[in-house]
This record gives sequence, structure tokens and C-alpha cells, in this order.
Amino acid sequence: MLKPFHLRASQAHKRLVALASSDGQRPVTELFAKNSNRFEEMHAETDGFFMDWSKQRISKATMEALFELASEANWKEGRTALFSGDAINQTEGRAVLHMAMRAHEGDNFHVDGHDVLPEVMEVRETMLAFADEIRADSKICDVVNIGIGGSDLGPLMVTKALRRFRDGGPNVHFVSNVDGSHLESVLEGLNPATTLVIVVSKTFTTQETMANANAAKDWFVQSMGESLIQKHFAAVSTNLEAAAHFGIAPRKVFGFSDWVGGRYSLWGPVGLSIACSIGSGNFRSLLEGARCMDVHFQQAPDHENLPLISALMGIWSREYLGFETQVILPYAQDLDRFPAYLQQADMESNGKSTGRDGKRVSHATGAVVWGEAGTNGQHAFYQLLHQGTSIHPVDIIAVKASMSRYSGHHEKLLANAVAQAEALMVGKSAEKVQSEMKVSGAEQTEIDAVSAHRVFEGNRPSTFIVLDDLDPKRLGMLIAFYEHRIFVQGMIWNICSFDQWGVELGKVLATQILAEWKGEEIGDHDPSTLALMKLIRG
Ligand code: F6P
Repeated sequence: MLKPFHLRASQAHKRLVALASSDGQRPVTELFAKNSNRFEEMHAETDGFFMDWSKQRISKATMEALFELASEANWKEGRTALFSGDAINQTEGRAVLHMAMRAHEGDNFHVDGHDVLPEVMEVRETMLAFADEIRADSKICDVVNIGIGGSDLGPLMVTKALRRFRDGGPNVHFVSNVDGSHLESVLEGLNPATTLVIVVSKTFTTQETMANANAAKDWFVQSMGESLIQKHFAAVSTNLEAAAHFGIAPRKVFGFSDWVGGRYSLWGPVGLSIACSIGSGNFRSLLEGARCMDVHFQQAPDHENLPLISALMGIWSREYLGFETQVILPYAQDLDRFPAYLQQADMESNGKSTGRDGKRVSHATGAVVWGEAGTNGQHAFYQLLHQGTSIHPVDIIAVKASMSRYSGHHEKLLANAVAQAEALMVGKSAEKVQSEMKVSGAEQTEIDAVSAHRVFEGNRPSTFIVLDDLDPKRLGMLIAFYEHRIFVQGMIWNICSFDQWGVELGKVLATQILAEWKGEEIGDHDPSTLALMKLIRG
């Protein structure tokens, strides 16, 4: 169990509060002017993954105080507990060992004294062999992944991000929503005779997934008959019995352990649709990249430890500067589902208000995560990022190598990424706006009327991440980087990052309302809910 930590009672907290009203308010441009080494001191790189945090509203003193905060929160002890397989998911009494899913043979991962790697390796090999079998089967053209949350967002995001690595693999589709139009819109273009359906559900009880899986089964049986289900359906679950009961051939049910959380599960059998898309070799590179980040996270000194530093920037922004959201801006169309993926990974992990001691925390916790691929976002919400009344720190993710054959596009894309970070920090003063208007021949009356609207106050923080390429390895690194950032933040915020009780109440009430609509006696609801139930169902 991770020790409770009371952020606001820590020594570092007092220093950080003072620093927030001094260094935290200084223009970053001024900090650059004072320290010609600032960029040198505030960037680091590991294996084709580069991060520049020099445009954050942070001074050297602030960084030291943040490292001190992390140390008071015993983050290193927590990291050891995480990698040792201790039951740090304390409310469910489970270890948190998704890193084992990307381990090498010979690495050390134990749960309750039991070496988990032999089983991980065995399932990995069986699952990858099956994926390659599907890729080699000319009769299978389409794969449909039916799952939701962690059983959908990770595989969907990775499959999209690595579209260039498909190399003749089947088309992979994703169905998650219990809105039937999601399933319908995917199935209407498909031929059951050339389709493999993978039902992915850790529990195999999730309402949305089971509704979609049963409807997909009916669609299949109508034209192909019951007997071919075993050929055209596979499942991924910790609930092997339920998957077998659904009618899936035992050889095509891929299990995993409860120490892999849903939102951290793409590294194992939940990644089957990814492996079908990109093949076993590329899937192994994805795992290799994540493992590289695991090793970096465990071994890099604090001042170069990328997930640690990123986590601390987030704590600084949220707790000390009062910024409520974290924007994720991938300058890569292939990463356009990355913000949505990270919403679950981060907000389901750190959107909590009860501390590890069972008491309500007295500080801010998880930021709202949102974003969109650049440059699309620039023509939508960047207006608010540059001139809105609230400040939203951004992570810009750029990729050095071109991701398409249109290299001219790539140059433009990267120029936009770099320009946005500069614009957010430097802004544009009233004097500059006015003198530019004068030079362009504007009348004084026009200058007086319009110039204030053209001012950018600047000093809006960003972190800039550059991947050498959007290849399986660098993508693995990127995902593991954010996983470890989330872990460190949870340590410092004193919350239980690996449960998700907050999603339960809505599920229970939806089941109850559904039963009431089907004839059960109407229970206790507030007047608005009763009126809505009546309005919708009569
Ligand atoms: O939304 C809650 C949740 O439990 C997620 O944590 C999980 O990823 C998702 O539902 C799907 O669960 P399952 O894989 O068990 O169907």
C-alpha cells in the first residue's frame, strides 16, 4: 500500500506557494532573458523522445521545490512498490503491473511472490501467433473490435496512429457505443464470411460490449449459421468462463490477470486488434518502446526523468497556478485519437477526491484533459488558448519524420507546431500591435478601436515533445510516458489512481431505469428524472 501524503502539510508546499506568486507570475520571456542556459537546463532526450519544458512558467528554484515535493511524497518508494507488484491498487487489493506485459524474458515481475512472466510470455506468443495467422488468412479482410473504455480507446488510438505499418493487414474497425448506430454503421459495409469479430472485455459483463457482441453474433448467425461462430469470433477477457459461454472456441479466448487495469491493458491480449493490424513484429516494437520508457522512468536521475518532470509541471499548473485543464495537441493526424485515449487514462485514474487515508483531499487533483490534432484545433479553439480569460497549459507533440508521402505538408505542420508554442509564450504587446497598425497605414481612430482586440498577453505555458518518428517504438514510449506521469501525480495527490469507482453509480442507475422501463415498479427518483423518464418513454 502506498503511504498517505498530505501535500499541503509538506515543507515543499510552503515554498511552492511563495514561488507561485513570485516566479510563477514572471513572464517566461524574462526568465529566458536572465538565463541564457534556460533551454539547456530545461530539456532532455531519451532514445528519440525529446521534451522541452523551458516554456513552462517555472524557475530553477521552482523545479527544485517540485523535486523536493516529489521526494516528500516518497515517489521513489512508490515507484519501487509499483514495479515490485505490491497491491498498490488498495481499494481493490490488486497489484498494478501492466509493465510486465511489455517485459523482456529475464525481467523481474512478481505478484505475491509468484513470477508472472512465464504466463505473460506464453499468452503473448499465442496471441501474436493468432494475429499473424489472421493476417495471413486471405479470407479474413476485416476485423471488428467490440469493447469500450480501455478495451477500445487504446487499441483504436494505436491502430490509427500506426496506420502506415499495416502492410497488407486486415481493415480493423471499432465498435464501442451502445448506440446501435455505431454497430450498424460498421457492420453495414462488412461481409460476415470475411470478418473476424473480437469481443474485448476485461469483465465480459459490460452492458455496451455485451449488447454489441450479441447483436454482432446475431448478424453473423443470420447468414453464416451457428457452427461458424468458433471460426469467426475471438475474445479477450479475464472472465474466461463467460467468454466460453458466449460460444467462443477456447483456443481463441485470450486471458489476462486482474493486475492489468482496463485503461493500461493495450500491451497484452487487449492489443489483439492492434497486432492483427500491424503484425507481431511491429507489436513487439511497440512493447519495446514502452519498456524503454519504463527503464528510463526507473533509472534516469530526477533532473532528466521525463515522466517525473512532466508530472511535476502538471502539479505546478494545477495546484499552484490554478490552471484547471491540460490540453494535448498532437501535430500528427494519425494521433488524432490520442487526446481521447489520454482522457480515460488520466481522468479515470486521477479524477478522485478521496485520499489514500480515506479522507477527502484538501487540494486540487486531476486536470480536465482535452485536445485535438493540430492544425485542426488552431481553426477551432486556439482562439481561447491565446486570448481567453483562463489559462490552459498545453503539451504539443510533434514528429520529426514525415508521416505521409507529402513532405511539403510536414514542413508546414511542424512550422505551425513550433509557431504556436512561441505565440503562446511571447504573445503580442499593445505597443507592438499599435506600431504595426501604424506602419500598415491604419488611422488613429481604427487603432484606438481595434488594437486592444489584437493583443496577446502571452506567458501561456507549453511543453514541447518531439518524437523522431511516429513508429511503433516511439508510440510505445509516448504512451508509457503518460502512464508514468499519471502514476507520479497520483502519488503526490494522495489518491488511488488505479480504481474507478466513479463510473459505477451511473451504470447502476441505467440498469435500474432500464428495468423500470421494462415493467418493474418505478423506484425513488427526483422529479426531473421522473419527468425525463416519462417524456422519453411515455
Ligand atoms: O468505464 C469503466 C470501465 O470499467 C473501464 O475502466 C474499462 O476500461 C471499461 O469500463 C470497460 O470494461 P471491460 O473491459 O470490463 O468491458
